[in-house]
Amino acid sequence: MANKPNLKIKDLHVAIDEKEILKGVNLEINGGEIHAIMGPNGTGKSTLASALMGHPRYEVSKGEALLDQADLLDMDVDERARAGLFLAMQYPSEVSGVTNSDFLRSAINAKRDEGNEISLMKFIREMDKKMELLEMDEKFATRYLNEGFSGGEKKRNEILQLMMLNPRIAILDEIDSGLDIDALKVVAAGVNAMRGDEFGALIITHYQRLLNYIKPDFVHVFMQGRIVKSGGPELAERLEAEGYDWVKEELGIEDETVGQQG
Ligand SMILES: Nc1ncnc2c1ncn2[C@@H]1O[C@H](COP(=O)(O)OP(=O)(O)OP(=O)(O)O)[C@@H](O)[C@H]1O
Ligand SMILES: [Mg+2]
Repeated sequence: MANKPNLKIKDLHVAIDEKEILKGVNLEINGGEIHAIMGPNGTGKSTLASALMGHPRYEVSKGEALLDQADLLDMDVDERARAGLFLAMQYPSEVSGVTNSDFLRSAINAKRDEGNEISLMKFIREMDKKMELLEMDEKFATRYLNEGFSGGEKKRNEILQLMMLNPRIAILDEIDSGLDIDALKVVAAGVNAMRGDEFGALIITHYQRLLNYIKPDFVHVFMQGRIVKSGGPELAERLEAEGYDWVKEELGIEDETVGQQG
């Protein structure tokens, strides 16, 4: 039987510099499921991603996040990665002096026990295979991590990391932003290649188009620092066609952002 991952977020409240941004997020993701979060700018979507990954500036004031029943909030960033969590960032950082392939090999080995490191041959074989699938030129293996990469190249590189690290749960924050149509398809193919009972994903996006290529099982609307509405793929289609006003009206929401006051 497949060992299905499970991410459970219960009533999560998160603050930055005393200002509450997340105000009670509830969400459960199981292996085999793709969840999409859509929502207006400044409603806390990336904050959710960063808080789950353990960004030090984000302070959890209330609630729980469990990965396979283990308390994520108690773990350091590297422990979260080892537990099987992965985050593709909206704005990936550039790291000069570290090549893409060195970074990836270290990241893979950091998840493995000492003495059980991936062999160089196997690593190169895997990386070549994945880069081919993502239609990445091999020179990206030896370039410094994200340095001078175009917006689209960075996104492709995030998916390369995803495929190489093989996490149990992945959070992909605006993986489609800035991609041309061909790149969008390639990136979607990479995510779809990960699909299976031992993988679950949370995809944050502004555009329904991505969801034509990566079919979500659940779609959630994010406003005011929490999920305010959930449904299936049809919900994304309605948002694309009609925007967010009908959701705000339905729920009596005037200001969808996290607000200026704590
Ligand atoms: N480090 C920070 N310092 C101060 N304010 C922050 C910080 N991070 C986030 N915020 C604020 O929290 C709110 C939510 O930001 P967040 O990035 O989570 O929004 P988002 O839903 O991802 O928006 P977008 O769709 O534009 O990416 C914003 O008002 C933002 O300015
Ligand atoms: Mg964001």
